[in-house]
Amino acid sequence: MSILYALWLIFPAYVANASAVIFGGGKPIDFGKTWRGKPILGEGKTWRGLAGGIFSGIAAGTIMNAVHPSFGEGMESLIILFALSFGALVGDMVESFLKRRLGRRRGEPWPVADQIDFLLGALLFSFIISREWFMSNFTPYRILFLLIFTPLIHLATNLLAYVLKLKKVPW
Ligand code: CTP
Ligand code: MG
Repeated sequence: MSILYALWLIFPAYVANASAVIFGGGKPIDFGKTWRGKPILGEGKTWRGLAGGIFSGIAAGTIMNAVHPSFGEGMESLIILFALSFGALVGDMVESFLKRRLGRRRGEPWPVADQIDFLLGALLFSFIISREWFMSNFTPYRILFLLIFTPLIHLATNLLAYVLKLKKVPW
């Protein structure tokens, strides 16, 4: 199924995003600094989450690539997987930045944005890093499918993380 292949392609970004929750903690990326009275990013964005997420996304993608080559060869695959993982986490950071500007506290829900922030980041960064790979893999149809299904998958996994006490809130 061509459409389901989209889930395979974006899976390293899912892993990066989920791993940040598992590895997260310690020093916040914004070092607790505020801007105009509000946290720049907030306590929910940490260096450990960022590093753990990038590493896990690349690791998962490298294993996937051995099973079924889909992220390019050799060095190119590392760059593409880095773009998918780092892009996912930057997307999430940008979303937190905007949330703080809007006065929403850490963990406060912002429906849809909370669920697709990392998807948009991963798509944008992989597009920037390898336009050719992006265009031949992320067809408009697949992107549309991911935009619709990612929030649903995200909600389901976050509910699980909440039940496992990895997350404070179930979204
Ligand atoms: N996390 C992290 N570092 C990151 C991203 C996530 O440590 N770069 C961890 C944090 O423990 C965070 C959790 O993963 O609480 C869930 O991420 P997310 O839902 O994006 O954060 P929230 O706590 O909901 O905060 P925000 O309102 O900023 O989205
Ligand atoms: Mg978020």
